[in-house]
Amino acid sequence: MSDVRHSPPTAKGLEYLGAVAGGLVHEIRNPLSTMNITLQLLQEDFADAPEDDERAQRVQRRVTALRREVTRLEEILDDFQRYAGMRRLDLAQIDVNRVLEEVTAFVRPECARVGVRLMFWPDRSLPLVRLDERLLKQAVLNLLLNAIQAMEEMAGGSEPPDRTLELIVRTRTEGETVRIDVIDTGPGIPPEVGQKVFEIWYSRKRKGTGLGLPTARRIAEEHAGTLEFVSEPGKGSDFVLRLPLAGPPDAGA
Ligand SMILES: Nc1ncnc2c1ncn2[C@@H]1O[C@H](COP(=O)(O)OP(=O)(O)O)[C@@H](O)[C@H]1O
Ligand SMILES: [Mg+2]
Repeated sequence: MSDVRHSPPTAKGLEYLGAVAGGLVHEIRNPLSTMNITLQLLQEDFADAPEDDERAQRVQRRVTALRREVTRLEEILDDFQRYAGMRRLDLAQIDVNRVLEEVTAFVRPECARVGVRLMFWPDRSLPLVRLDERLLKQAVLNLLLNAIQAMEEMAGGSEPPDRTLELIVRTRTEGETVRIDVIDTGPGIPPEVGQKVFEIWYSRKRKGTGLGLPTARRIAEEHAGTLEFVSEPGKGSDFVLRLPLAGPPDAGA
């Protein structure tokens, strides 16, 4: 994706953007789903074509490629909707460790596939925190997927990785906040890239949308929290999510 620079949207701006985007996403989603169904039918039409019918095989391959792209467009719409969708926080007293347990369990198969050792180090004395569970899951999932993808890139290189691939999720309290670390032993983030990773549409991946980190940061900020990272090229990265233990200031209002 291209590297588009812009200043972060304000809450009001986001609300407006969310409304406009909601309509646009809806309008695009319908024809896309018609395309997907039509392509699927086309695929079925050619499904029993003989192996030596080269033209039919070619059509099959092209239809498969088209369906893949349609699916990708649908994924971009999903991500964008999550980023732009202005939604009231659905706050409750949440056991952060339990939520993280669930999210890490969700990515465990992916870690196994890539050869990543996944560890969860919860602070068992963590108090309940007032937050939106679904959004917390979304934010942490985005961080986990980035970490796994970064390490996968390294594992897939011509040289075998010179260190074990590890993904550590850790919780602890820090002053009036709960601190969640997502630590990887991936390639790290070059200093010249720096804070650009938080810009919408900024991605260094061939198939990236550049929405993962902006969404995660936005979720942190909606909770009056922060998302930052420390990274050492060649060693790995540590994404640090801090959320106020008491929840957002107007919690329960
Ligand atoms: N853990 C990480 N290690 C190395 N680079 C990372 C990590 N997390 C994010 N990045 C970099 O930040 C960019 C933006 O991430 P993100 O907003 O999630 O978009 P996407 O994953 O779609 O590329 C990624 O393309 C990647 O280059
Ligand atoms: Mg991402």
